[in-house]
Amino acid sequence: MIYYSRVALAEQLANELRGKALFSDAHNGLFLAAPRRTGKSTFLQADLKPVLEREGVVVVYVDLWSDQRRDPAILIAEGISRKLHEKLGPVARTAKAAGLKEIVLGGLKIDTSRIGQIDGTTLPEALRALHEMVAAPLALIIDEAQHALTSEAGETAMAALKSARDQLNRPGQINLMLVMSGSDRDKLLRLVNTNGSPFYGSQIHRLPELDLQFIAHIAGLIEQQRPPLAPVDQGLLYQAFQLFGCRPQFFMEALGQALSPLASISGRFEAAMLDAARQRQLDDEAQMESVYLGLKPLEQAVLRRLLDLGSRYRPYDAEALKFYRDVTGEKVTAAKVQNALDVLRQHSPALIWKSARGEYSVDDAAMHRWYAQRVTDCSWPPADPLLDLRDD
Ligand SMILES: Nc1ncnc2c1ncn2[C@@H]1O[C@H](COP(=O)(O)OP(=O)(O)O)[C@@H](O)[C@H]1O
Ligand SMILES: [Mg+2]
Repeated sequence: MIYYSRVALAEQLANELRGKALFSDAHNGLFLAAPRRTGKSTFLQADLKPVLEREGVVVVYVDLWSDQRRDPAILIAEGISRKLHEKLGPVARTAKAAGLKEIVLGGLKIDTSRIGQIDGTTLPEALRALHEMVAAPLALIIDEAQHALTSEAGETAMAALKSARDQLNRPGQINLMLVMSGSDRDKLLRLVNTNGSPFYGSQIHRLPELDLQFIAHIAGLIEQQRPPLAPVDQGLLYQAFQLFGCRPQFFMEALGQALSPLASISGRFEAAMLDAARQRQLDDEAQMESVYLGLKPLEQAVLRRLLDLGSRYRPYDAEALKFYRDVTGEKVTAAKVQNALDVLRQHSPALIWKSARGEYSVDDAAMHRWYAQRVTDCSWPPADPLLDLRDD
């Protein structure tokens, strides 16, 4: 597998996190958003984590999507306790061997037989103990952090992390860095945008997508391995990459096919890549359309309203009920709406997302782009071609 490393970006972010950059608020928490499959998790683990570690920071990485059935708060606690365990291992073993039931670290009594069992409310103590033990700054990277908002325990854990940050950090000395990433800026915003949000006041930044330098790197590899193809048209290749939604995996798959000795393309492979990208886009759109058309009328109406209004969406207000009625031609009760919302959440793949406070959002931000494009093209909402035939 070809991996393109973005060390310079990682170094810049690490500097900001450590409070070394002027005019950056990252030492209070760094919030990074970018669409799905554009390389966030890879960047956080393969670029940012090693850069921080090289600077002596102890890094805990937790992906809240690693197991969506489990409570986000537990996943965070486990990530921290795993690190605690790893670092405490020899100390705890020695203590146990010496017959000690408890060891005291940073004012926290740790039961040597129960290391690894932290719950949401004890997160700040666990982080403080870890910090004292390793005598180094900590960084906690939480991938797909918006998922924490889907449970009350997750919300509590987020508030606990903020409190840990406030306890551990002093001006000029950052001991706990927090990095939160998410695939959907709107959802991540809920961590920072209201008075009650755990990280009120922080900004969400867009994690830059892989850019022309990535394409130049790939082009270099192609020219090295297949000299007759030089010079590679990087502009065209970059255009194709963007059409692939800057998703390296799809781009690389298509490249593998276009460059395969078995490929039946005539002409340049760059043009074939552009075709493949357009085809992928059509496939993605067709997929969303077929999912939409497969829904019942009220489910479609609910999804439409949510796409129309975004964060202003209220499922049960009078205007919403009127909208559903106008669209479906039937009287709609709150119970029916609730049912439709549940169906959309449990759909595979999930179509809508719900926070523990009852806020809704479409699950995959790509749906917003699909919707906006169709509105621009005056082809919203999608109509079932079979229905049209039956009407005739
Ligand atoms: N820097 C990179 N160079 C090459 N391929 C990458 C790079 N980053 C990501 N990828 C590819 O894209 C896929 C999706 O990346 P991932 O980090 O999981 O995205 P995200 O977390 O944004 O959904 C990875 O499985 C990998 O194949
Ligand atoms: Mg990811």
